[in-house]
Amino acid sequence: MKRLAILGSTGSIGVQALDVVDRAPGRFQVVGLSARRNAARLAEQVRRFRPRLVSVADDAAARELRGLLDGAAPEILTGDGGAVAVASQAEADFVLAAISGGAGLRSTAAAVEAGKAVGLANKESLVLAGELIMARAAERGVSILPVDSEHSAIFQSLAGHNRKEVRRLILTASGGPLRTVPAERLGAVTPAEALKHPNWSMGDKITIDSATLMNKGLEVIEARWLFDVDPARIEVLVHPESIVHSMVEYIDGQVVAQLGISDMRGPISYALGHPDRVGLGLDPLDLARVGKLTFEPPDPVRFPAYTLAWRALELGGTAPAALSGADEAAVEAFLQGRCRFDRIARVCAEVLEAHRVEPLVSIEQAVAASEWGKREAARRARED
Ligand SMILES: NC(=O)c1ccc[n+]([C@@H]2O[C@H](COP(=O)([O-])OP(=O)(O)OC[C@H]3O[C@@H](n4cnc5c(N)ncnc54)[C@H](OP(=O)(O)O)[C@@H]3O)[C@@H](O)[C@H]2O)c1
Repeated sequence: MKRLAILGSTGSIGVQALDVVDRAPGRFQVVGLSARRNAARLAEQVRRFRPRLVSVADDAAARELRGLLDGAAPEILTGDGGAVAVASQAEADFVLAAISGGAGLRSTAAAVEAGKAVGLANKESLVLAGELIMARAAERGVSILPVDSEHSAIFQSLAGHNRKEVRRLILTASGGPLRTVPAERLGAVTPAEALKHPNWSMGDKITIDSATLMNKGLEVIEARWLFDVDPARIEVLVHPESIVHSMVEYIDGQVVAQLGISDMRGPISYALGHPDRVGLGLDPLDLARVGKLTFEPPDPVRFPAYTLAWRALELGGTAPAALSGADEAAVEAFLQGRCRFDRIARVCAEVLEAHRVEPLVSIEQAVAASEWGKREAARRARED
């Protein structure tokens, strides 16, 4: 029985992870759950999975949760410290880091520090502080198992191969909901349109990031640290069918790919079960029905956010953290109708330009750079 702490349990990844737990009786025990304010959903999860420890953002959410649980409540902690405590609790063997945004970094770092195996959905942990997290994980002998479908595909395509023989990592991208929208229409795109992802059902932030292609840029940064690979060896291919989840090319020109249906329970279960696979009873991949698989290069002119992530990676240090924070605030402004779609990338570019890059030496510095990026972007989005 693997004992799991699930951070971000009420979100898209968290809910699907608990579904994996349900589909694999006897394989996993849930010992900790963490959410922000969705007390109603968290209460249902607590009743079903009986964790010992849970955390929520603040006292109001804790009161609401207690009220919903009448009686048999687990220990309820609050704030950033609460998620950190759930991540580092002695009872957990495995931490699924599925909080959205830079808010997930401290708890991911705490899980590594506590020597837990980590299933990493929160890509921002590696965008903000990949170098530090991976170095510390190596020192502590901790495995970081990717949950992002592309990184899971690469991880699976690397298994059994010699990493020194890798020529390129090829990340695929669906192209998002606006792939075919003409450039001149991008300014008028509404949140409802941008939230309509053709293949994946995900949280709002990552769905908008898929629409701007910022998500793919952030994934490039994630891959750079997760697989310790020179960015020059990372490529991106738009693949609208989202069947080939990513590929690895070796020095002899052979390419190993991982394919599957667009269902996050695949990569989630691979991380949770590793090194074993988990039978899920999902629909099989029917390639005859898919018919054809197509690929095209990303369009950096229509989707400049993608290029910004590469630029931040090149600048290094605190630059990716500042960009990630800026993106969070700009996406929030867009979702609240305060910023046009095509302004998201422009605001992020302005913030990255204004950022004074420092070499990255601590998690707190990465958090501070991300918070600075958020404030700058929120201000600039308001000025729009
Ligand atoms: N969804 C996907 O298919 C997918 C695929 C690949 C990677 N990812 C990555 O996985 C992560 C989670 O994505 P998601 O789509 O599952 O997000 P989501 O649906 O928005 O859920 C986010 C979760 O994090 C919690 N949360 C948000 N802010 C928090 C804070 N400040 N402190 C504590 N908890 C907080 C939320 O709690 P409340 O519900 O209480 O607000 C919720 O449980 C992201 O980093 C994303 O990039 C997601």
